[in-house]
Amino acid sequence: MNIIKDQDVIIILKSMLNKLDDRLVDHGERVAYLCLELMHYMNAPYEEYLHVAKLALLHDIGAYKTDDVDSLLSFESEDVWEHAIYGYLFLSRMSPLKKNADCVLYHHMSYEKLIGTDCSNKKIASLIHLCDRIDVAIKQGTTLTSLLHQSGQFDPILVKAFETLNKNQCLIRALEDKTYQDKMNELYQTIYLGEDERREYLEMLAYSIDFRSEFTVLHTITTTAIAIELGKQYHLNSVEMNKLYYAALLHDIGKGAIPISILEKQGKLDDKETQLMQRHVTITEEILKGYIQTDVLHMAACHHEKLDGSGYPKHLTKKELTLGDRIVAIADILSALLGKRSYKEKFSITKAISIIEEMAEEGKIDQDIVQVFVAHHEEIMVRVDHNTEKIKQLYVDMLEHYLKLSGQCVV
Ligand SMILES: [Fe+2]
Ligand SMILES: [Fe+2]
Ligand SMILES: [Fe+2]
Repeated sequence: MNIIKDQDVIIILKSMLNKLDDRLVDHGERVAYLCLELMHYMNAPYEEYLHVAKLALLHDIGAYKTDDVDSLLSFESEDVWEHAIYGYLFLSRMSPLKKNADCVLYHHMSYEKLIGTDCSNKKIASLIHLCDRIDVAIKQGTTLTSLLHQSGQFDPILVKAFETLNKNQCLIRALEDKTYQDKMNELYQTIYLGEDERREYLEMLAYSIDFRSEFTVLHTITTTAIAIELGKQYHLNSVEMNKLYYAALLHDIGKGAIPISILEKQGKLDDKETQLMQRHVTITEEILKGYIQTDVLHMAACHHEKLDGSGYPKHLTKKELTLGDRIVAIADILSALLGKRSYKEKFSITKAISIIEEMAEEGKIDQDIVQVFVAHHEEIMVRVDHNTEKIKQLYVDMLEHYLKLSGQCVV
């Protein structure tokens, strides 16, 4: 049995975007719905249909990289390109949607300008552009007529199709009374991904959230790699290893909802900020609950629990924490110690070891796992460094391309 069902991968991705900002709740799904209705009306082939649904659902995924959601909702902001570029970079480098990802880069460009670009998916880009603006206008309560007829803004064929389809306001009504969700849920049931795609989407989710801050870029990959190496030392079978992998991969996705200013604050967080930061665990649980096997959810959501009950958010104790929970927790601590943070430099492996040994002695984390790590840390860290290198390169490459694209004629 799969740890996560195919349609649930899509639902997790969607829910994560919903956690980013209230104004973005269901935006991707509503845009996807409008795109699909228009495509259906224009007799698009079924495969194209599913493809566009995924792109439209994720078209604002680059918003993870910005705290400034205002600009992505506004029409005439130059800053709008920031999330469009990042969205394109995430999707083109990390998702199974690589081939068509450039439509996301151009999803805020007017039709008039778009036709002069080398975008390889102008049809999809202009479709998402129109549906995106319609959804924002509906949410903001502005009239559609003036929006739709701005000169050069939208593909006139799409505008005509929308007006014909929406004659009795049926599309808008479906959005307002949420009946569109039934159609979308029906569609999700038909999504088939396969193991590689499932993994690729979830890795994109985790890494794109880590990429929000330079201090967390390598956090998940390091946690995952350490957890897997520890799992090997305990001779876990392939099913258990797979569970450990996904738990470690998804443990911090709730950080997508934490303001970047908090992730990057220099110095200690005050009480209120600490509380907010700690909410990331509950958010991870909210997103995954019901969509992932319960033992995997437990491992992901218990990574800040301590054996003596001093952890958070549930203050669980030793008897409630499984081997997997304990491994993910220790891998998470090591990853944080070995990485640079806004409030501290990287610790050496020697210092990290002395800290976890002290924590184990205090009864906070599992003594046995710590000993296993200490005994094998050299070989473990060689493999961890090897795994993190790829993500480091990806991040550097993304930043380089971001600068290149933002300096180009995209705006
Ligand atoms: Fe956008
Ligand atoms: Fe959007
Ligand atoms: Fe965490």
